Amino acid sequence: MHFATIGRVPGDPILGLIDAYNLDPNPHKFDLGVGVYKDAKGLTPILPSVKRAEQRLVDHQQTKTYIGGHGDSRFGQLISELVLGSDSPLLASKRAGATQTPGGTGALRLAADFIGHCLPGRGIWLSDPTWPIHETIFAEAGLKVSHYPYVGSDNKLNVAGMLQALEAAPEGDVVLLHACCHNPTGFDLAQADWLQVLDVVRRRQLLPLIDFAYQGFGDGLQEDAWSTRLFVRELPEVLITSSCSKNFGLYRERVGALIVCAGDAEKLADVRSQLAFLARNLWSNPPDHGAAVVATILGDAELKYQWAQEVEAMRTRIAQLRSGLVEALASFGLAEHFAHINEQRGMFSYTGLTAEQVKSLREKHSVYMVGSGRANIAGVDGTRLNQLAKAIAQVCTR
Ligand code: LMR
Repeated sequence: MHFATIGRVPGDPILGLIDAYNLDPNPHKFDLGVGVYKDAKGLTPILPSVKRAEQRLVDHQQTKTYIGGHGDSRFGQLISELVLGSDSPLLASKRAGATQTPGGTGALRLAADFIGHCLPGRGIWLSDPTWPIHETIFAEAGLKVSHYPYVGSDNKLNVAGMLQALEAAPEGDVVLLHACCHNPTGFDLAQADWLQVLDVVRRRQLLPLIDFAYQGFGDGLQEDAWSTRLFVRELPEVLITSSCSKNFGLYRERVGALIVCAGDAEKLADVRSQLAFLARNLWSNPPDHGAAVVATILGDAELKYQWAQEVEAMRTRIAQLRSGLVEALASFGLAEHFAHINEQRGMFSYTGLTAEQVKSLREKHSVYMVGSGRANIAGVDGTRLNQLAKAIAQVCTR
């Protein structure tokens, strides 16, 4: 038999939680697993700005013909402006360009293939810990994966350890940085830390790959772009992966971009020719619908304003959930123990709960989170914070 030697691999550590949660009959269950925003009713509705844009597409879109290897150029321009700033000199001098990809994951996959194919021998440095799929995407593309310390077993940011590891990284290696809302920990670098990272990256001639999946969920749409804009201003060559899954709520539509910043327009064209070749072999043309929605929104001042308000509403609600959860934990004497939840940014919190505690939460209280102790704070139902805090207190004090 052809398949006789094929074994089974474990399910995805994050997506596998969706099935486990759905199968749980407990009506009081909590879904703090996959990074999806939920509103006060526990739903993930389509953003009203997205609905309006979709309606316009239904009414006016003329064709579904192929869109081309780099995707919709209007989307590419608008997403680049959102990430780099509409007044970015890189855009004016044609030193930056976007390739539309199936989600941020597609952008990472394309970046991995690009590094493997065009920059052979370069290793990649990931934060320890990082999003588990970072580990596998780059390893599967044949890159040597190394790690720099980021958050230690004390659940604290380790900037000194990070800088020391990058200082020792081989010249030319790629370093993956999370622009904001670090996944899985929620701990972000301060601006002073970013300046130190920039200094090492420049001196060691490392190539930064900035993963920007949560623009708008940390401190705001512009604020969250600070580190990325710093790097592209100060360094000639930067790779950025951008995702519209969270901030446009377009998860399953798969919208993202790989933005390349190069030394000059000619070099950008060289790199983009390689990306078109690689993308052709991966997915041929990127899916269009979600990107067309994003372009419709970002290309219309009124819709863009509405969307920005919607992102801000999601951001502030997550911040309120963070403080609400810490407050609820306070009634169990755990405010100090979980004070870090208020310092973290974005959807995720590295709670500091052990794998054992996560398991008990799931088995005894139907609270679903990733085994690492990562909780999607954006998945918490605001009316049941006390119930969640009680469950956490029970597993902490056992
Ligand atoms: C997450 O980390 O939960 C999200 O980025 C969704 C995913 O694709 O894993």
